[in-house]
Amino acid sequence: MSKRLYVTTPIYYANDKPHIGHAYTTLLADVICRFHRLLGYQTWFLTGTDEHGQKVQQAAQKRNISAQEHVDEYHLRFKEMWQTLGIEYNRFIRTTDADHIQHVQSALQELYDKGEIYAEKYAGWYSVGEERFFSADELIDGKDPISGRAVDWLEEKNYFFKMSRYQEQLIRHIEEHPDFILPAFRKNEVLGFLRQPLQDLCISRPKSRLEWGIPLPFDNEFVTYVWFDALLNYESGVQGIELWAGEPAWPADYHIIGKDILTTHAVYWPTMLLGMGRPLPRHILAHGWWLLKDSKMSKSEGNVVNPLDYIAEHGVDTVRYFLLREMVVGQDASFSDELFVRRINTDLANDLGNAINRVNKFVHSHFDGRLPEADHLGADEENLLQLAEQSTQKAIQEIRAIRISVALEEVMSLVRATNKYIDKRAPWQIARQIQSADPADQASRSELQRDLAMVLYTSAETLRLTLCLLSAVIPQAARKGLAMLGQKEVVDQSHLEWGYLAGGEALAPGEPLFPRIENPADRGQKPSAGEGDAAKSQKAGQEANDPASKLELVVVEILSVTEHPEAEALYVLRLQDHTAQRTVCAGLRQHYQPGELLHRKAVLFANLKPARLRGIESNGMLLAATDQKTGQVALIDPGSLASGTLLSFGDLPVEPKKKAGLKDFEKLGLHVQGGQIVYGDTVLQHKGIPVRSDASDGSIVK
Ligand code: MSP
Repeated sequence: MSKRLYVTTPIYYANDKPHIGHAYTTLLADVICRFHRLLGYQTWFLTGTDEHGQKVQQAAQKRNISAQEHVDEYHLRFKEMWQTLGIEYNRFIRTTDADHIQHVQSALQELYDKGEIYAEKYAGWYSVGEERFFSADELIDGKDPISGRAVDWLEEKNYFFKMSRYQEQLIRHIEEHPDFILPAFRKNEVLGFLRQPLQDLCISRPKSRLEWGIPLPFDNEFVTYVWFDALLNYESGVQGIELWAGEPAWPADYHIIGKDILTTHAVYWPTMLLGMGRPLPRHILAHGWWLLKDSKMSKSEGNVVNPLDYIAEHGVDTVRYFLLREMVVGQDASFSDELFVRRINTDLANDLGNAINRVNKFVHSHFDGRLPEADHLGADEENLLQLAEQSTQKAIQEIRAIRISVALEEVMSLVRATNKYIDKRAPWQIARQIQSADPADQASRSELQRDLAMVLYTSAETLRLTLCLLSAVIPQAARKGLAMLGQKEVVDQSHLEWGYLAGGEALAPGEPLFPRIENPADRGQKPSAGEGDAAKSQKAGQEANDPASKLELVVVEILSVTEHPEAEALYVLRLQDHTAQRTVCAGLRQHYQPGELLHRKAVLFANLKPARLRGIESNGMLLAATDQKTGQVALIDPGSLASGTLLSFGDLPVEPKKKAGLKDFEKLGLHVQGGQIVYGDTVLQHKGIPVRSDASDGSIVK
């Protein structure tokens, strides 16, 4: 099988500022190429800018500069954006490049010589906005059916490509190659369009009207229609390029486009190629639109999202992941801060980042940073291994079918399964059992040690696989995360098998891969607009009656851990809260080693009335979940929330509170459900970011 892949994006108009919509198309192409390289393919990735035509000419005139100066400046915006987004293209083509101009002219000459192009006087309704003629029955209310703007009646000589003669051949090709146009419903749309008689294509513009274009080689009074020029970039961009044992790069394997330019790609372009007797592209894949508040993002609507703002704040991998995970290829998708924050916090911070961190931290605190080797696998391990192998195969299949969001979901479900496995096997408990085992009983100690090694190895190895699969989407974080698990090599196909890590690998020191993020709208939260005074005071009254409003819950850091001299079950902890340091006695000695608590963050019931516990005053209580079946106790982990962060349920206000009693706390009946701390129909959270718990559903929080 020839493992080659030539992928293109549309070439973007060089008078736009790139936004999330453009970024998505280019990212999708980038990720397709990276994935295929990972699978051993040789890839070629072409992107660039569309620099001729009326819009550019007009924009340059407005700025009082030449069109060439205008595009020399504007195309850089795209180059810079692609660099920031980590796009690895092979060529950035500009339609003003000399080799492209030459290629367009020779294609025109070839078609002209073959009698595929003819001149004719043409009269019709011309739209400046769309740079094309419309027939009278295409107009809507006498206006341009696409932009809704006025049209002018024009009569002029022009050159036409005999597109109509390829109608039947194109229909046959589409029917015989069901994956030529993807997704399938777009294929049907094109076939529907082709049920109407196909017109010939006007491929020229008189210079008197438009100067900024490629002159027709056979009539210097005309320039080339901008779409005829632009589509040929897909061929001119790979002239002389060979892939996979000397095969010419053309035909493209995938033209990735937005649904707005389907007709030009699935009708004009293939008929042009048929006219020249050249092979057709293998697939044309049209994705949907990114919508902002239900309408298409576009500069003219003034509703665009600039990816650079998000990259600057949260890093490039979060933007790459969000766009690819959130859009089902082919369907429209919505962009909002809320969706962005939720997706990043749930998938990347809570699930992936947390899992890698847990394993890395444990290996550093118990094995001097060297991953122990597993010399056997138990039933849970065999199950996870099997799942890892199945998920890897499934993800690869989905990637090959360009269902990237489905592939990512598959990988994320493996991450979640690994977290569950870690919770179940609880390496911290095995470590405690080793500590408390009879030193004389070497046999059971070494059995426990083998067990612990197996749990850590299995977790690290499964997470390593997930990172390899994610490396095309989040390349920077994957590199860091892999080093934290012991893989320093650049990912390739040989790393997609379970069992790559040899024991004894030194793990890079831990670093938070994906800190939790906040919704900008939540910073300096204000009552929502339109909320009147009466409504506000009624709400305040209800809140005062809510038992949850009596509790002050805050993220703390454990600064020191000592054993209580008088009470076997208690540790004396020194904590940093939102205002000061304090001491709390906590009944955690059966459940945690001191080293597991030191510098860890936890959630404190901070305004609990102070109590003396065997001579030491305790100021508050740390929240922990107790599994009702196993009795296992796990501190509530606030993830990456900073110590001092005040937490609340739903949208109850966070304010200083009077002292409260244990009864006030117990009234709430806090428990874990779906990984969150639930009270009634609200969850413990900070500005919309829920505090998560790995404890099983129904665990009681106290
Ligand atoms: N220059 C032509 C393409 C010529 S290709 C031979 C063009 N350029 S464009 O700058 O308008 O870019 C259009 C492409 O940008 C769309 O096809 C799509 O891939 C991407 N998008 C622009 N806005 C978009 C959204 N709101 N959502 C998703 N993609 C969008 O057309």
